[in-house]
Amino acid sequence: PLVPLRVVLDHAAENDYGVAAFNVNNMEQIQAIMEAAAETDSPVIIQASRGARSYTNDAYLRYLMMAAAELHPSIPIVMHQDHGNSPATCQSAIDNGFTSVMMDGSLKEDGKTPADFEYNVRVTKEVVDAAHSQNVSVEGELGCLGSLESGEGEQEDGHGAVGELTHDQLLTDPDEAAQFVELTGVDALAVAIGTSHGAYKFTKKPTGEVLAMDRIEAIHAKLPNTHLVMHGSSSVPQELQDIINQYGGEMKQTYGVPVEEIQRGIKSGVRKINVDTDCRMAITGAIRKVLTEDKGAFDPRAYLKPAREAMKQVCVARMVSFGQAGNG
Ligand code: G3H
Ligand code: 13P
Ligand code: NA
Ligand code: ZN
Repeated sequence: PLVPLRVVLDHAAENDYGVAAFNVNNMEQIQAIMEAAAETDSPVIIQASRGARSYTNDAYLRYLMMAAAELHPSIPIVMHQDHGNSPATCQSAIDNGFTSVMMDGSLKEDGKTPADFEYNVRVTKEVVDAAHSQNVSVEGELGCLGSLESGEGEQEDGHGAVGELTHDQLLTDPDEAAQFVELTGVDALAVAIGTSHGAYKFTKKPTGEVLAMDRIEAIHAKLPNTHLVMHGSSSVPQELQDIINQYGGEMKQTYGVPVEEIQRGIKSGVRKINVDTDCRMAITGAIRKVLTEDKGAFDPRAYLKPAREAMKQVCVARMVSFGQAGNG
């Protein structure tokens, strides 16, 4: 059945595991996740960004999720709004069957400009009050996602990717986090520790300088009962880069968040781990391979089936590494 995020994360906390939250935009991605969950006996978090909701249309998405629940009646499935930008977006998600919403008040409604603490508390609290009365969970975010190293979006002056903010301003402050949770009553808190969305997170295997796992430990020490969320947590595996490049792609060498760092986070309260890029890369690599090897192919199933299978393998691997396997 479709269940609120809180139910799944409470079980994860009681049993010391993390749960991957995979982004979806179409039927094959939902099928890949559900097949992986059935094979590994895992609970499921499926999330849709605002872009995903407008790409699919809410009605298609709602019925696809209902199909997933109907076909897998014993698997708990969370349907989560990823990066809601306003209380109105979150309410429209709830109206369309989502059982969990993220109010990302770390940014203003444009989804780009860093917002102040008071704004974040105000919009997040508004969503918590509305959502909880409808049996829907809420994820908030404090701090700014963005690379702490020279890389994508880096400015000349050594500042990170997000505007004028310095390294320390990007990271979530543990005392502020405690205050934020107290003031808003969120079910889960996304924290900023130096990860960024997309494939280009780090230019070499990240060290503690650029991937601040110790921040998670400091936040967990202040908030031992709060479920923490890691965004930008794709591992960007070398083999997926290689497949894409072997079959005509041109992705620059890049590094993501190593699975062992995520496992370290799971020991310190990380319960939801957002993964989109790895699934995108698995799909793209598989499609490139088919279309390169069989230039005459024109039936979409010829490449969508291997693409779905490739994403399923990524999902299985994360479900096993994060410890959610066996807990469905
Ligand atoms: O938040 C980032 C997710 O990877 C979703 O990306 O906004 O392109 O759908 P999107
Ligand atoms: P990745 O781009 O690392 O997969 O992160 C996805 C994410 O955080 C979605 O909210
Ligand atoms: Na989210
Ligand atoms: Zn995110």
